[in-house]
Amino acid sequence: MLHDPHTTSSVNDCRLITLNKNHHENGNLSVIEGGMQVPFDINRVYYLYDVPGDAERGGHSHRELQQFIVAISGCFDVVLDDGVEQRRITLNRPYKGLLITQGIWRVLDNFSSGAVCMVAASLHYDEEDYVRDYDTFLRLTASKRQPK
Ligand code: TYD
Repeated sequence: MLHDPHTTSSVNDCRLITLNKNHHENGNLSVIEGGMQVPFDINRVYYLYDVPGDAERGGHSHRELQQFIVAISGCFDVVLDDGVEQRRITLNRPYKGLLITQGIWRVLDNFSSGAVCMVAASLHYDEEDYVRDYDTFLRLTASKRQPK
């Protein structure tokens, strides 16, 4: 790979995106469309549920994958790490999601009971795209910690 996104990734490129809420007295409706509310084509959707309150999910980064994470129900935290800076973000609204760009280590924790975490992903599942070892992640992001 010519350019690994880990060398330039920043937690500041990750952002909360507020979805439109179609509000009706008989219930609300929010929409996520690829290339519209999220800046990538959506190739995959998956969701986490029945996550124990003391469990951690994630614990990896991705080389190419971008994701948009929504707490469809309940709440949980996402800890973002670019190798230099960390940010903890609480997701607790079904109309507000977190865009995670490439090369960001993420851990999900603090799941409330009944939480459902929906993830819209830019690519099909590919284990080769994962970096699951934190020491490898630190090596891939090392250039960002060099004195300028
Ligand atoms: P993983 O991405 O590590 O989950 P999380 O980041 O939420 O903790 O995936 C957990 C397992 O599920 C792993 O064995 C791979 C499998 N998996 C799929 O088969 N397809 C998928 O789309 C995803 C996301 C995971």
